[in-house]
Amino acid sequence: MSSPSPAKVPQHVAIIMDGNGRWARQRGLPRLEGHRRGVETVRTVVDAAREIGIRYLTLYAFSVENWRRPADEVSGLMGLLDFFLKRELDNLIRNRVRLLTIGRTGDLPANVRRELDRVIAATRDFTEWTLVLALNYGSRTEVADAARDYAQAVREGRERPEDASWEKFSRYLYSAAIPEPDLLIRTSGELRMSNFMLMQCAYSELVFTPVLWPDFGKADLQAAVDDYGRRERRYGQTTEQIKTGPA
Ligand code: IPE
Ligand code: IPE
Ligand code: MG
Repeated sequence: MSSPSPAKVPQHVAIIMDGNGRWARQRGLPRLEGHRRGVETVRTVVDAAREIGIRYLTLYAFSVENWRRPADEVSGLMGLLDFFLKRELDNLIRNRVRLLTIGRTGDLPANVRRELDRVIAATRDFTEWTLVLALNYGSRTEVADAARDYAQAVREGRERPEDASWEKFSRYLYSAAIPEPDLLIRTSGELRMSNFMLMQCAYSELVFTPVLWPDFGKADLQAAVDDYGRRERRYGQTTEQIKTGPA
């Protein structure tokens, strides 16, 4: 398989990891078994992303809407998150991967928050590779939280309403320190965003694959990156302008 030129490797890939439940159902297994296999895929994909040269990888792991699932599935997912963080710490340190989160992580169970704090603190100085976990994340919640903080800044005289711009407002998003995704992948064949990084994906390239998350592997990630490499990102301009360089 021919690899794209390094310049065409997306700097930031975001993934809506979907299809764990269907993977389990197809095998007559409980849904949590699908989530367990999904955790193994996370390890594979984090390693593969680094090998491909993707500097930022964001994984949608739990949405604000996912609290609506049956209580035993929610607690199972939280248990797996705790397990993942404990198990991956050594791997992240060895590979010099920094962990960040986006979402209302303050509302996660205390044991998960503790593990998150631990892994984030232990990896905070790594700059080459970043893994971002979207946890208790929703785009609308993110915008509401940013609006609240922006309004507070106005009240304290740190911002002026007449200066409002996307550039200024976006500094109040959870993702302020992270570049916008170049490539967004959703597994499992669903063609929707499910409240994920709606603002940040304004100009992201989208790839939807029917592969269920537990079956997703390095070859699937490479295929999405190759697809990205063949796209022309125009940002509102014409092909001719893109070919002759910036306006
Ligand atoms: C994605 O798999 C994992 C989470 C949303 C936490 P699903 O659990 O949504 O799998 P399906 O969509 O039911 O197959
Ligand atoms: C989106 O998947 C959330 C995550 C992958 C964490 P869902 O499975 O929850 O999305 P919907 O409900 O099918 O839109
Ligand atoms: Mg789903």
